[in-house]
Amino acid sequence: MISTRGQEYARSGLMDSYSRPSKEAYNKTTNPTGEVNFSMAENVKNLPRFKPTTRTNSALVYASRGSPQVHQYFSPISPVIPEHITFTAGVTGLNEMVTFNLADEGEGLLLGRRVYGAFYSDMTTRTKSRLVYASFGDTDQFSVTGVKKYEECLLQARKEGIKIKALVLCNPHNPLGRCYSVDTLKALLAFCGKYDLHLVSDEIYALSVFEVEGATRTPFTSVLSIDTDGLIDPKRIHVMYGMSKDFGVAGIRLGCLISQNEGMTKATQAIGRFNWPSEISISIATTILEDTAFVTKYTNESRKLLVERYTLATETLDKAGINYSREGNAGFFLWIDLSQFLATYKAEQDGWEAEKTLKAKFSQAGVELSSGRGYMEEKPGWFRVIFTVDRDALIEGLRRYVLSFLVDFWGNKLTNMPRIIMVLKDGHGK
Ligand SMILES: Cc1ncc(COP(=O)(O)O)c(C=O)c1O
Repeated sequence: MISTRGQEYARSGLMDSYSRPSKEAYNKTTNPTGEVNFSMAENVKNLPRFKPTTRTNSALVYASRGSPQVHQYFSPISPVIPEHITFTAGVTGLNEMVTFNLADEGEGLLLGRRVYGAFYSDMTTRTKSRLVYASFGDTDQFSVTGVKKYEECLLQARKEGIKIKALVLCNPHNPLGRCYSVDTLKALLAFCGKYDLHLVSDEIYALSVFEVEGATRTPFTSVLSIDTDGLIDPKRIHVMYGMSKDFGVAGIRLGCLISQNEGMTKATQAIGRFNWPSEISISIATTILEDTAFVTKYTNESRKLLVERYTLATETLDKAGINYSREGNAGFFLWIDLSQFLATYKAEQDGWEAEKTLKAKFSQAGVELSSGRGYMEEKPGWFRVIFTVDRDALIEGLRRYVLSFLVDFWGNKLTNMPRIIMVLKDGHGK
């Protein structure tokens, strides 16, 4: 028998989403009934590929520090020197390390809901720290006025005896695909300064930001590029970045912490002993990031494809009259409001159960997607669609989406039924 804690981890399901036996994937010609997976935040577009060359000799020695040219893409206000950068085996592990180093057991980190759901498992499972989520109701979670909601939540937590140590942001945001404006970032930094909080900013989608034709969207600003004078001690700012998303190389498992706080970097390196990235991965990342001509070509190409897929997905949803979070211009996802389709299940179930049922229905229809509960969404009925899947799979996945509604709601007085039928007939948003 393994230990009690071993048994707990064995039951935890922490790696289930990565090891779920995948059904045969959809392929327009060879497997037209295969599964379309809209749930994994990966970028599987056909982009120019780099050769994974490494500086072999130096890649075979111990190291966890160094300076891939990551900082140049963040326009930092103060120079980022090698001592500010700590490599880790992915941002998932880094989320835990940062929590270990900022909050003791029972102490809290503050986040705004909705937000990347895995922060919960990554930041609490072993640290035994807590996450406290601010709700925004009708207030825009990215606005300067939204900062008030964080403050109310912090004060409430204090009343309940929870000590909040840091604010965690995801910028660009998963799952909403939005960026924080400079004004909001400044207001958040001032808020952290006022309450002696650290600010942790997960910027893993920093280079996956695109322009949406005819729309004004907030461009990405790294918290590293903001003048912190009079707002917060820069030693309280910690940025996380990784190669998994922007460069589509999740398999090299590389992340890094950028922090001017010596205690923080030392502690992260110490814990890193148990979570050490391969120097070969560091070397691959360094080679990529130092090749600025390649990075420019790659990210330009990537942005073009992001816009193309985003447009295809949003046009299809618009035609079908399906609502989604409108302000996105980053990342690989759309946050879709399917609450109107929960109606039939609600009679027997509560809203969250109805959401689960709808998710299961999609799965039966051959479409996998993540639902809002896992992202601490305030209301049931929201789902995340990854639009960076293969183009044919995107079209087919959206068609099945629409089709499974149609089957379910046939006979219901659904006001947008004619539009849904049009999408099906029309070739679903060419
Ligand atoms: C916001 C965010 N942070 C971190 C991660 C995990 O990144 P990594 O592959 O570096 O562990 C993800 C992956 O989905 C993510 O969306």
